[in-house]
Amino acid sequence: MSVKAINETGKLALYEIENKAGMRLQVTAYGARIHKILTKDKNGNTIDVVAGFETPEGFLGDNPYFNAVIGRVANRIGNAEFTLNGKKYTLFKNDGNNSLHGGKEGFDRKIWQAEPMGDDAVKMTYFSPDGEEGYPGNLTTTVTYKLTDENEVSIAYEAISDQDTICSLTNHAYFNLNGDFSTVLDHEVFIDSDKITTIDGSLIPHGDFTPIKGTAYDFSVPKKIGKDIKTNDFMLNIARGYDFNYVLNNDFIHPVATAYSSGSGVKMSVFTDRPCMQLYTGNFLDGLKGKKTYGYQSAFCMETQGYPNACNVPSFPSIELKKGERYSARTSYKFTVE
Ligand code: GLA
Repeated sequence: MSVKAINETGKLALYEIENKAGMRLQVTAYGARIHKILTKDKNGNTIDVVAGFETPEGFLGDNPYFNAVIGRVANRIGNAEFTLNGKKYTLFKNDGNNSLHGGKEGFDRKIWQAEPMGDDAVKMTYFSPDGEEGYPGNLTTTVTYKLTDENEVSIAYEAISDQDTICSLTNHAYFNLNGDFSTVLDHEVFIDSDKITTIDGSLIPHGDFTPIKGTAYDFSVPKKIGKDIKTNDFMLNIARGYDFNYVLNNDFIHPVATAYSSGSGVKMSVFTDRPCMQLYTGNFLDGLKGKKTYGYQSAFCMETQGYPNACNVPSFPSIELKKGERYSARTSYKFTVE
């Protein structure tokens, strides 16, 4: 195991963690983003399974949250407002009438302080002042990326606020397990879930659930992403593909989700302590150029998260973070070859 600084200073500080199998994880300070995940395919060739740019500078330009930490609140907040302790808070509307992924300038656009931890991890810290993006409380967040010898990229999130606030973090990595970013429709996906949160025409959940057994949304039996993606159905049509919040049947031992590409033989297994996961199939990608060209449905995201819009839906488990209480969340992505 080793951690080395490729660039130690500034907003594009870049660290690489390498394990004994030769797998490498590169992370950069800007948005606490994953720059590269270099792993071996079934032929022993090294492939990069995350989207992005040749150099971390690329992240500074327009891109849809490529591999960034999302905060203070991942996913959408309906009407870009919420009420906490009887007080109404107004957020920036960056997604129609709603707030998406932290607002105008979320955690993905912040410069994190990066430091190596031991020989297998890099810790990123960001201080978000009271009122930033409309959220109450001075919030200090740390995200620790670790690579294990079992080829597991593990992400530990911690946060603490000096006032009651709301907090729900994720990582927005875009994967293609062939590394070629041509399409993900050939990837086989499993998600341990029987229901998704039902969304309205602007992708906001309001408290209803859609049972998914046997429907196009169902991944409880592994199937190719492309198999049912063209089904003519209200939610699939408005999202132009999968962009849904799966409520996880999580036993905290088995993966909550897997994705597999027979082309490369690479399988990714997702473990988390979060209640939900957004499966997003890159439906807004439209040809952005980076390490590869990222066209429609050329990448997928498995964003572990709290319930979207929970701050406006009292029946959803709360994402409130009380003053002085510690927010703590874990997610890991494990890579194997089959
Ligand atoms: C999330 C959302 C999508 C989209 C992407 C970013 O996955 O659920 O609707 O906004 O982020 O493009």
